Amino acid sequence: MAEIDWGNLSFGYTKTKYNVRTYYRDGKWGALEVSSEETINIHIAATALHYGQEAFEGLKAFRGKDGKIRVFRWEENAKRMQKSAEAILMQEVPSDLFKKAMVKVINLNKEFIPPYGTGSSLYLRPLLIGSGPQVGVKPAEEYLFMIFVTPVGPYFKEGFNPVDVEIVRDYDRAAPNGTGHVKVGGNYAASLRAGVRAHDEGYAASLFLDSKTKTYIDEAGPANFFGIKDNKYITPDSSSILPSITNMSLRDLAADMGMTVERRHIAVDELESFEEVGACGTAAVISPIKRIHDRNTDKDYFYCKDGKAGPISTKLYKTLQGIQMGEIEDKFGWNTIID
Ligand code: PLP
Ligand code: COI
Repeated sequence: MAEIDWGNLSFGYTKTKYNVRTYYRDGKWGALEVSSEETINIHIAATALHYGQEAFEGLKAFRGKDGKIRVFRWEENAKRMQKSAEAILMQEVPSDLFKKAMVKVINLNKEFIPPYGTGSSLYLRPLLIGSGPQVGVKPAEEYLFMIFVTPVGPYFKEGFNPVDVEIVRDYDRAAPNGTGHVKVGGNYAASLRAGVRAHDEGYAASLFLDSKTKTYIDEAGPANFFGIKDNKYITPDSSSILPSITNMSLRDLAADMGMTVERRHIAVDELESFEEVGACGTAAVISPIKRIHDRNTDKDYFYCKDGKAGPISTKLYKTLQGIQMGEIEDKFGWNTIID
């Protein structure tokens, strides 16, 4: 095995030993298969390829301070994948099957879990696709569920250093009654143009607004948005954003820290009044934002005036990571220990 530089991993693909797969055929899920192939053999008329019948998840396993392996809130990822399946008429993966596949793939790839203290983790990527053929626009009758794993570092190269993001109005990621609230591949295809342009222009991500009125903040590329002011943790309420499990956890942590939590519309104009703002997600963890640029008005909103993350974002980040690494008591019962 090639040496892995655990402390300097980016958020990318590193080959591991095994992945796990199971097919839904003839009305039932089959046996869990272990594979060392990085490819799948797929029917040329599979609905995933033609009609985007595809959903994925992202969750992490951590090597803790005590040497134990902890997975963060997998039940929520399993539930969200069921919602995604329901939204685009795919066969659901039951939570017990999700768990069985997850435990198996982690145990088979233990040597790829980054050591404690490196800041890296093992990213799990569950994938559910319509594998059966259709030529008419119809749901498949066969599905493939698989999980592969890969060791990763921070999603944004800046890690916990503050980033710049830009507000976009000329592209929409999701339609008001579309699929923005679930984790299906089409949403990411729709976000690529804005995302690549943002990178080319020096921004870590695009900040999407609600597509109908272009008034309210939706989310920051592959991460939810939050703002902090007057001891309040405020995050958008929108039917077109992905309900982030990290955001859900930060809301609980903020409330536990004595903050008021608000989930409501955040108008662009309100950006001016925040003391701290950030993006959050499994891959991004918390990414503090130091500047929001509005492409249309050319207006800039500045935060982190000393160049560093604000005190509340820092506390939330440390608490979340502390729980994930087994350094802080898991009083919400978020971790599952894998032995
Ligand atoms: N928003 C989008 C569009 C995402 O892809 C993700 C990543 O999963 C998130 C938000 C963050 O969600 P979570 O915290 O569950 O990873
Ligand atoms: C995650 O945070 O797990 C994501 O899936 C974000 C992105 C890589 C799609």
